Amino acid sequence: MYRPLADRVVIITGASRGIGRATAKELARTKARLVLVGRDTQALDAVVQETRRLGAESYAYPLDVRNFEAIRVFSQWVLKTCGTIDVLINNAAVGKYGRFLDLTMDDWDNMVSTNLLGLVALTQAVLPTMIQNRSGHIVNISSIQGKRATATSSAYSATKFGVMAVTESLQREMRQYGIRVTALCPGSVETDFDGFPGSEKINPLTPDDVALAIRDVVETDGRAYVMETVLMPVWGP
Ligand SMILES: NC(=O)c1ccc[n+]([C@@H]2O[C@H](COP(=O)([O-])OP(=O)(O)OC[C@H]3O[C@@H](n4cnc5c(N)ncnc54)[C@H](OP(=O)(O)O)[C@@H]3O)[C@@H](O)[C@H]2O)c1
Repeated sequence: MYRPLADRVVIITGASRGIGRATAKELARTKARLVLVGRDTQALDAVVQETRRLGAESYAYPLDVRNFEAIRVFSQWVLKTCGTIDVLINNAAVGKYGRFLDLTMDDWDNMVSTNLLGLVALTQAVLPTMIQNRSGHIVNISSIQGKRATATSSAYSATKFGVMAVTESLQREMRQYGIRVTALCPGSVETDFDGFPGSEKINPLTPDDVALAIRDVVETDGRAYVMETVLMPVWGP
């Protein structure tokens, strides 16, 4: 059973470009009320304009997800501005690949702080509202690298395996409140994520492919919900 998102308040992190931007545009078509998060204010504002042109109520909120105090202030702002929080899409992340001995502790710190701790802090900030509402949906954008690591992906995969663990544990804790927690694990996507130009990837998914899968997940309703989706390109090497 599907329920259109219309009027539900959806936070999307990493909405300034790539998968987050495509998701904002896809959900704007459902008339969701969007709160778009990222650090690049100009890019965020452009996405807000795009989503408003598609008919959505949409706000930009510049935020670095590594700033946990700012996240607390942010969640209060969303509640004051929109009245509630129905869906959180934890999409913001950074990725750096490299041989284990070439990755610095700063690289590890940046990836863990952004991809794992940022996701944890945002989830902690929105869950009290969802628990009170006895309804809500957290969608964690993990990766195929969160299910199997490859040579040079140690740090990135460690954060995405961490995302899978947090997701699975929260699924068990949150069922009693009617809160859905989903992990979405895409394969290669045509964005410039991790400094590898999207145009050089072989048969990648497009950001729109992932956005459609996210829309599917958040519109699934009734007694059922999607716990995990692995999304791979049909063709590949
Ligand atoms: N592309 C792929 O092949 C692929 C495959 C599997 C999974 N994924 C996952 O998909 C998600 C989106 O990736 P993408 O490909 O769309 O990458 P992208 O185009 O590089 O976008 C990443 C987004 O994250 C935001 N971000 C990064 N650090 C942030 C911070 N500290 N605070 C707030 N926002 C931050 C960026 O915004 P600002 O720069 O404005 O802050 C940007 O909007 C990530 O979770 C990634 O791990 C990607």
